[in-house]
Amino acid sequence: MRGGLAAAATGFLAPKPSLALDAAGSLAGAVTQAVGGPLISFAPVTIAQHAAQSDGGKVPVISSDYQYQVLIPWGTPIQPGGPAYNGNPDKRPTAAEQELQVGIGHDGMAFFGDGDDDLSSTAGMLCVNHEFGRNTHLIGKTAPESLEDVRLSQAAHGASVVRIERDSDGAWQVAASPDSRRITANTPMAFSGPAAGSAFLENAAGNEPRGTMANCGSGTTPWGTYLTCEENFNDYFGWTDPDFVPSKSQARYGFDADGAGYGWHSFDERFDLGNPDYANEHNRFGWIVEIDPRDGARKPVKRTALGRFKHEAIAINVGPSGRIACYMGDDQVFDYCYKFVSRLPYKLAQRLGRSPLDEGTLYVARFNDDGTGRWLELSRRNPLLRDAFGSEAELLVNTRLAADIVGATPMDRPEWTTIGQNNMVYWTLTNNVERTEPNAANPETPNNDGHIIRTSDSAVSSRSFRWDIYLIASSTRGTEGVFSDPDAALADPFGRLFVATDGGQQDGLQNQLIVFDLTAEKPTPNRLFTGVAHDELTGCTASPDCRTIWVNVQHPGSGDPAATNFPAPTDGLTVPRDCTVVITKKDGGIIGS
Ligand code: FEO
Ligand code: CA
Ligand code: CA
Repeated sequence: MRGGLAAAATGFLAPKPSLALDAAGSLAGAVTQAVGGPLISFAPVTIAQHAAQSDGGKVPVISSDYQYQVLIPWGTPIQPGGPAYNGNPDKRPTAAEQELQVGIGHDGMAFFGDGDDDLSSTAGMLCVNHEFGRNTHLIGKTAPESLEDVRLSQAAHGASVVRIERDSDGAWQVAASPDSRRITANTPMAFSGPAAGSAFLENAAGNEPRGTMANCGSGTTPWGTYLTCEENFNDYFGWTDPDFVPSKSQARYGFDADGAGYGWHSFDERFDLGNPDYANEHNRFGWIVEIDPRDGARKPVKRTALGRFKHEAIAINVGPSGRIACYMGDDQVFDYCYKFVSRLPYKLAQRLGRSPLDEGTLYVARFNDDGTGRWLELSRRNPLLRDAFGSEAELLVNTRLAADIVGATPMDRPEWTTIGQNNMVYWTLTNNVERTEPNAANPETPNNDGHIIRTSDSAVSSRSFRWDIYLIASSTRGTEGVFSDPDAALADPFGRLFVATDGGQQDGLQNQLIVFDLTAEKPTPNRLFTGVAHDELTGCTASPDCRTIWVNVQHPGSGDPAATNFPAPTDGLTVPRDCTVVITKKDGGIIGS
């Protein structure tokens, strides 16, 4: 088995006990049976320590048992010796320079260690998403004034694949590699799966598919590739024709005349929704994209069988038969939780020259109030959908519309998924200030602070599941472990859960990386690291030996040098830059211990 933590798990863990629900139907009993004893002994960052050390949010704070190093801030050359951007507010990179540099908006991320089993913890390829950079931060203007400005913005979005190595002093550096590369909003892309080649993805202009953007969370496959998830793609489109009226589908995906103000559509016709030559360009976004971190020449592939929505992240579980289940959230208020199950065991599919991500069944979740749930099929085999769509391609391009029809449960913004002990899937639900009607799976009205839910399938392919709420974040208010707005999530092979937050935290705290012991009786948040003013902490990935963890600091200061200059020393002038933070324990121990 290849791929980071999953690979490590096979080396460290006894066989997983089978899941057993306790009499009350809670999933918690099964967890505590899996591993005994406390997994966390580090000194958490206290509220008082944070207040004393954060300098008003100008610098991060870390547990006294840990240390951190900054790696690959926005503008770092992808290859050593390339052009660099250092945060000078008077000299931004050109678009051509940005094509050769680490992008902005660091989010989902995965480390692929060297070696046949990906098991090196000292050298490998780091894949990092570049979700977004607001115009004032990235181009230094409120709106682009030229195609060059748009090209700079587009070149800073997408993803980076960058080789990193740990030196003899324990510090990580960027190293040269032919496989290091930038993938941007203009990189040629391939499509696969049922919607590939369909009219829904073709334009009258005949332009080849290019680009990925709004790359939020991520996942890895058991075969050692990286999955990047296109989330708020609607933000980059707009229209210039005042008479243009969006379709029902376009409205459901949230397109509007000015998007989120990036202004790409003002200079690049591809992003003008009202331009009939590019009428289907928007359908080319909202997918999960597979990237091979070890083949810089291989086109990224958009896997249409996984559905089109505002993909946050993906977590894959491998069943005993070798079939895979992919768990995915759609991050919008009142949107849904999804599962894709491969038709074939993944190794068999690969022997036959097919991708396990191209053939299978997509489902959406209904959470019943009694702790049970159903995976509702999203295909034309489902009688509810047979007449609503003319083809599987049409259905997949309009996944949200199909999910509306079958009666999925509207959730409180599903963000990341990760697979913990006993194959339980943890789903972060970040918040939903618009909720007025509660249900058992989304009980807070409004849900200001978010919660974490977990699901358990009896088998990879099962259509029924059990679920319970792991933690309601508002219950931590008034305690030392207070946190809100859970977003990125990473379960380790031992029973720890890392959660990174995105939202206004209580008690003067900045966004935080917290650790839970899933084997403990009750969830207790342990604060490992806090970011800087106006940032969010995003994707995390761990080395195979679990002694290094990387976490991303996104939009520090919202780009305002008066708020913070991180990662540069505080000078009030240098533009703060999104970056990766490498965290290790001072005694060299397992991260989170
Ligand atoms: Fe890009 Fe849902 O966070
Ligand atoms: Ca997120
Ligand atoms: Ca978020």
